[in-house]
Amino acid sequence: MYNGEPQLGSDGKRHTLDGKTLIVPKQGMWMYEFCRERKPTKTLEIGLAYGYSTLYFLAAIRENCLGHHTSIDPFQNEKWHGIGSCQPRSLGASDSFRFIEEKAVTALVQFAARRETFDVIFIDGSHRFDDVFVDFTLSAELCPPGGCILLDDMWMPSIRNAVAFISSNRKDFEEIKTPVSNIAAFRRIGKDTRKWDHYVEFFDTHHSLRSPRRRLTQASFRRGSNSYHLIG
Ligand SMILES: C[S@@+](CC[C@H](N)C(=O)[O-])C[C@H]1O[C@@H](n2cnc3c(N)ncnc32)[C@H](O)[C@@H]1O
Repeated sequence: MYNGEPQLGSDGKRHTLDGKTLIVPKQGMWMYEFCRERKPTKTLEIGLAYGYSTLYFLAAIRENCLGHHTSIDPFQNEKWHGIGSCQPRSLGASDSFRFIEEKAVTALVQFAARRETFDVIFIDGSHRFDDVFVDFTLSAELCPPGGCILLDDMWMPSIRNAVAFISSNRKDFEEIKTPVSNIAAFRRIGKDTRKWDHYVEFFDTHHSLRSPRRRLTQASFRRGSNSYHLIG
């Protein structure tokens, strides 16, 4: 795949990849090692596309001789020719894989209703702030103590702000340092015991204050008023 070879789609034909929807090998290898070390029994990824990340999860399952992987993507056939969902079959790993063609928001709620849990959850679906925030909030419901949630694409302000919220508000999770700057990782260390009105300011000041241009695009809610103002 990294050579750009056309890949098999669900229509049985080979399709050219766009060359930009992927995770880089350094990140994939870190996720692989992460799963090799932790030996999760169930893993989940939000956002399948061509299935690059899926291959690293499946490789860890094969090496660990343990695990099952679920991928969610509502646009797998519509936008990606079903390429990601065909990868496990090509690798002879169909038994360790389940694909759900739905939006994360509905799929995650159904998992929660069935009390399904996942030891490692990789969030790489819609990258809008509100979607990532909801994906994390619902994923947290599925993450048992000791389980981990990974968020891709820390180069994006939407993801960094979601991560800033988690770091400052979700004390039931601790951040795990990673050698890959594009990924953030959190481990569940306890129950969510926040009071109903708990709120800690969370905007990504570290990154946003570095660039004056970014500063002007960051809105923060002024305490005690109903208006937004720009930082700076
Ligand atoms: C960056 S790509 C995922 C790349 C993939 N993880 C990989 O490593 O190859 C983002 C994916 O999220 C999917 N997506 C978009 N909105 C979504 C949603 N609401 N729920 C789940 N997946 C979504 C897109 O169809 C796309 O396949």
